[in-house]
Amino acid sequence: MTTHKVGYLNGSLAKASINRQLARALVKLAPPALVFTEIPIKDLPLYSYDYDADYPPVAWAFKQAIADVDALLFVTPEYNRSIPGGLKNAIDWASRPWGKNSFTRKPCAVIGTSPGAIGTAMAQLSLRSVLGFCNAPQMNSPEAYIQFTPGLITEDGDVTNESTAEFLRNYMSDFHQFIARVVAVLPRDA
Ligand code: FNR
Repeated sequence: MTTHKVGYLNGSLAKASINRQLARALVKLAPPALVFTEIPIKDLPLYSYDYDADYPPVAWAFKQAIADVDALLFVTPEYNRSIPGGLKNAIDWASRPWGKNSFTRKPCAVIGTSPGAIGTAMAQLSLRSVLGFCNAPQMNSPEAYIQFTPGLITEDGDVTNESTAEFLRNYMSDFHQFIARVVAVLPRDA
């Protein structure tokens, strides 16, 4: 079985993040051929291009963590109809210094949850636009806008509603197939 390494980024820095619960669920429901590591964003300073000439070790480590995986999964909340500032900051770090964009050839998928009825749709639209500019191949379909209702996902990432679990299982299965297709035509080290 060919395995693929997937790094996941949680757009939320909150301790009680519901998107962290969703991320745990996705890891549990994913096909066994996907091997996950979280790529944390919380220790990155605020980006400025003043750093480009001398990136701090924490930023190189962040870029290396992205380089070490075959694909990225963004699990993001919606804050004020867009992505949280911390996530945008992390993407800005990874996209630079100029000529060293970490997203080129990196298959990505976007998902998120909020208590609101549109389930992070606006944030995901915004994130897709950013990732498009960063030249990341994105899984266009399926989309996944998860409305978080109390108890839907436990702290440990167990989904209590079987139709939601099935939907998320299929989403991760499709992501697996998407990764396999992208790495077949755009090998990481080519
Ligand atoms: C929110 N929330 C929110 N929800 C939404 O559906 N659309 C939105 O635009 C916003 N805006 C927003 C702004 C800010 C600053 C906060 C703190 C929250 C509510 C949000 O969905 C809820 O707090 C979730 O719990 C956020 O996900 P995490 O951080 O718990 O993973």
